[in-house]
Amino acid sequence: MIYLDHNATTPIAPEVRDAMRPYLEREFGNPSSSHEAGVVARTAIERAREEVAALLGAEPEGVIFTGSGSEADNLAIKGVALAHLGERDHMVTSAIEHPAVLAACAYLERRLGFRVTRVRVDGSGLVDPDDVRRAIEPRTALVSIMRANNEVGTLQPIAEIAQIARERDVPLHTDAAQAVGKLLTDVEELGVDMLTIVGHKMGAPKGIGAFYVRTGTRLDPLIHGGGAKPLPVIAQASRNVAKLDRSWRGNVWWFLLVLMIPLGIMSLQTQHRPTIKERIERTRTERAPRKRQIYRVPRG
Ligand SMILES: Cc1ncc(COP(=O)(O)O)c(C=O)c1O
Repeated sequence: MIYLDHNATTPIAPEVRDAMRPYLEREFGNPSSSHEAGVVARTAIERAREEVAALLGAEPEGVIFTGSGSEADNLAIKGVALAHLGERDHMVTSAIEHPAVLAACAYLERRLGFRVTRVRVDGSGLVDPDDVRRAIEPRTALVSIMRANNEVGTLQPIAEIAQIARERDVPLHTDAAQAVGKLLTDVEELGVDMLTIVGHKMGAPKGIGAFYVRTGTRLDPLIHGGGAKPLPVIAQASRNVAKLDRSWRGNVWWFLLVLMIPLGIMSLQTQHRPTIKERIERTRTERAPRKRQIYRVPRG
């Protein structure tokens, strides 16, 4: 078989497979444990978080690992909606989003009485930023427009849309599942408040995604009760980490999968300039810490 569908998913990159081996064979610690085995696991996760953050031009505290891109999309849509309940009840998205976005919006309409404006696209799948401008209302809680379309590959003018959303004080989420690993993606250049990435589009196994959330964004968690012993930094960023507190086996698999995102990124980014390594280094040495607002972590 000649496989030509890397937008649907990629095979696991050999370097990813090799990097997993120590954690399958020796380093089995629970990252929530305070003993040495746990510290080894936790250190590896924090390194992974720093590398994902550097790839996106973000601070590590803004990166949350999820079980999939669909989970990250659901967190953006439902998490923002829940945080604005009683205040804002309108969402703006496009007609050609991934089902994880469209179905989450439809759920809000059905169950919570939200109104959703699905902005039309032109013949090449492009969103007109002026349509987004017209769609935003005083009660709009979120704009969610994807960076790159999964069927036709259209790149949306996210920076322009971000400017419009910011002027109206509405947070912007972009699903960058089809962009990260193929295009350099910087959350500051794009001006987004939330961003979804997916491991299996760039050499990692299925079952791991990441979510970027800008400090200050109002976002409720979707998963409660997992906060007993999650990794401290993840817990600060969001309570949406209940997976960490599952069984011993669950923790190990989750941990392994988390490690795969930066490795997958590295395997795919080598064709770009600057390389991911240079980008990580540049971010560490040049970027002043961005502390734009106080991150409001809801008690859950
Ligand atoms: C644009 C887009 N968003 C979200 C997803 C969902 O990612 P996952 O398969 O990790 O749930 C995909 C995967 O096909 C995608 O292409």
